[in-house]
Amino acid sequence: MKDLKVAFYVTGGIAVYKSISLMREFIKMGADVQVAMTPSATEFVSPLTFQVLSKHAVHIDTFSEEDPHYVQHIHLADWADVSIVAPATANTIAKLANGMADNFVTSALLATVSPIFLVPAMNEHMLEHPATQKNIETLRNRHHYVMEPETGFLAEGYSGKGRFPETEAIIEALEGFLMEFRENLPLKGKKVVVTAGGTKERIDPVRFISNDSSGKMGHALAEAAWSAGAEVTLITVSDLPSRKQINRIQIDSAAQMYEAVNQAFQEIDVLIMAAAVSDYAPLKVEEHKMKKQNQLTIELKKNPDILKEMGKKKTKQFLIGFAAETENIETYALKKLTEKNADLIVANDVGKKDRGFNSNHNEVTIYSDINQPVTIKLSKKAEIAQSIIEILIERLE
Ligand code: CTP
Repeated sequence: MKDLKVAFYVTGGIAVYKSISLMREFIKMGADVQVAMTPSATEFVSPLTFQVLSKHAVHIDTFSEEDPHYVQHIHLADWADVSIVAPATANTIAKLANGMADNFVTSALLATVSPIFLVPAMNEHMLEHPATQKNIETLRNRHHYVMEPETGFLAEGYSGKGRFPETEAIIEALEGFLMEFRENLPLKGKKVVVTAGGTKERIDPVRFISNDSSGKMGHALAEAAWSAGAEVTLITVSDLPSRKQINRIQIDSAAQMYEAVNQAFQEIDVLIMAAAVSDYAPLKVEEHKMKKQNQLTIELKKNPDILKEMGKKKTKQFLIGFAAETENIETYALKKLTEKNADLIVANDVGKKDRGFNSNHNEVTIYSDINQPVTIKLSKKAEIAQSIIEILIERLE
C-alpha cells in the first residue's frame, strides 16, 4: 500500500462507520487516500471525518467544480492506482453494473480504468436478491474484485450474510487482488530503463550548460511503463517527482547518464532515451568559480552518443529514441532511426511554443523500422506516453 494512490468511495449503508477504520489503516500503511461519498453516505457519517483523516477535501457534488483546471470526477478516476468502494450498497452495485453515472461516485467509477475493488455490505435479503447477485456477477466478469460479505450479527438485529468484513481481511484480499492484477499486466517481467531531462554539463562549481528539456515526457513514460507492469528504472536529471515503486537514479551530466545506462543495459529489455542529452561538455571543469574576463572561450568536447552506443551493443533490447527537431522532421527522424539502430524514433517539433520542451503537451510522429509512421495529435504528455507504451507492447508481442 506504500505510496499507492487510493480513490476511496463511500456509499450509504450503516457500515460507513466501519469504513473509517479501513481508510485510516490505508493511511497508516502509507497510501495517499482521496475520498468521495454518495449523498446517502453523508447521512450516516459527516464528510468532515473523512476529510480530517485523509487530509483531502471529500468529493460529493459532481457540479461543485472549484478548480477550473480539472473536471474533478475524471481527475480522481485518472489519479487513482486503485479504487475501493467500501461499503458498496446494493444500489451502487446495480448502478455500476449498468453503467449509470448519476452522482460523483458512480460518474468517477464509470471513468475508471485502473482496478476496482468492492466491499459489499447490506441486508442478507438484499444481498441474495437475484438482481443483486446478477449485478455482482456482471462486475466480477468485468474483472472488478467483489468481496464476499461476512455472516454474523446484522444491524437489523438478526444473524445473516451481509456484514462488512474485518479490516485485516479486506486488506489481505486487496493485496492479493493488486498482486494478481500486476501479474497479468502486459509488461510484466520486462525491465525498462527511461532517461529524462536535459543533461547539465559543468563549467565550474556554480555554472553549467544545459537545454530547455523539463523531463516531463521521460517521467510520463516511466509512469506509463510502470502502469503497464514493467520494472522501471528512471535515470533522470529532472526534479520532477516519480513514484516510489520506480527505481530512480538521479544524475546530472551526459557522462553520468551514459555510465548508468551502460551499467544496466545488458539486463534490460527496453531502453527509452527521452532525455535531451547535451552533445558537448566543457573540455575542462574549473575547480573554482571562474572570474569574469573581457572575453571568454570555453572549449567543448563531444559527449558519447548514448543511444548510438547502445544501438551497436543491442542484442534483445528494444530501443526507443526521440528526435527533437525544428525543421525537416521526417528526414532527420528516419536518419536517426537507422544511424542509431533504434526500433522507434519519436519525433517532435520543438520549434512551436504550445508543445514540446517544458510544455505539458506534445504532438509526435512515431517512426518505426518496420511499420508506417503513426502521428499522435496534440495531447497531454501522459497520454502520449501511454500511446508510445501501447505501441511498445504491440511490438514486444
Ligand atoms: N542522444 C543520446 N546521446 C547523445 C545525444 C542524443 O543518446 N549524446 C539520444 C537522445 O536521447 C534522443 C536521440 O539520441 O533519443 C536523438 O537526440 P537528438 O538530440 O534529437 O539528436 P542528436 O543525435 O543529438 O543529433 P542532432 O543534434 O544532429 O539533431
